[in-house]
Amino acid sequence: MSRPHVLLARAVFPAVVERLREHFEVDDNPADIIHSPAQLTARLQGKAGAMTTGSERIDAVLLAACPELRVVANMAVGYNNFDIAACTAAGVLATNTPDVLTETTADFGFALMMAAARRMAESEHFLRRGEWTRWSYDMFTGSDVHGATLAILGMGRIGQAIARRGALGFGMRVIYHNRSPLTPEQEAPIQARYVDKATLLREADHLVLVLPYSAASHHAIGSAELALMKPTATLTNIARGGIVDDAALAAALHERRIAAAGLDVFEGEPAVHPALLTLPNVVLTPHIASATVATRRAMAELAADNLVAALTGGTPPTPINAAGLKR
Ligand code: DGY
Repeated sequence: MSRPHVLLARAVFPAVVERLREHFEVDDNPADIIHSPAQLTARLQGKAGAMTTGSERIDAVLLAACPELRVVANMAVGYNNFDIAACTAAGVLATNTPDVLTETTADFGFALMMAAARRMAESEHFLRRGEWTRWSYDMFTGSDVHGATLAILGMGRIGQAIARRGALGFGMRVIYHNRSPLTPEQEAPIQARYVDKATLLREADHLVLVLPYSAASHHAIGSAELALMKPTATLTNIARGGIVDDAALAAALHERRIAAAGLDVFEGEPAVHPALLTLPNVVLTPHIASATVATRRAMAELAADNLVAALTGGTPPTPINAAGLKR
């Protein structure tokens, strides 16, 4: 019996490629070329499965042109690059990689928030430029993280992991806004309080965005929302570009309507709004919140587990649309 053919849309750990070769005819991408939609469609011809990342858009047009495709396994927890309704309509299983990156991503979100609050990037650049000639009482004074109000927009697994760090490690008061409140059992250990979005923005000392991107969350933070925040507040985005109106954020940072920001994701990334690049009071990182060796390996292994299970009669561990496909 011939083995299924799969595409690895981007480069991935060689050990994972070898593991997949035990099950499939693998078309891999060691040069890590990013394909246009037309190139991706061409590479997917005859493929039953694909391992993808956020760079590959899987939509109705592509699915119609790839009728043999049965599973798309994203190596990411976020899956806004998938049109899930189109996948379900085409009978294609979509999977992602939740849980394995939660703590690593929360570590990074917390670090980025601290870097913004304590002006770490700005002061490091000052030192490297050779401008540090003496100590002064107000040099790079920022705002405290311990004991401050941590405001989380999007209280899923990563949001809760950040809240734990803040409440249990730094004595922070945790408030959050989410589609639905946590259970009292989830709120109690971190003394988290559910508030409406306007209250969240008004009371935040440090606002952290961890909500999924969708049409509904597009520009969830724009000029109107930034106007509600304290001039001493920081904003950290580890969710997705497009959740923040980056032009509005750059204006607010420039005019010191908020104090600082930490951004790991950007509208139109890898392009970054040029105004952000010129501002001292923003820490910018290239979408690396989940980037530790152990976590990226775990994400790749989980995406491979999903691919293998889906195409060999097993049960994929982390499906997105399995319920829709059963109907
Ligand atoms: C994720 O897993 O969604 C990260 O943002 C990496 O793409």
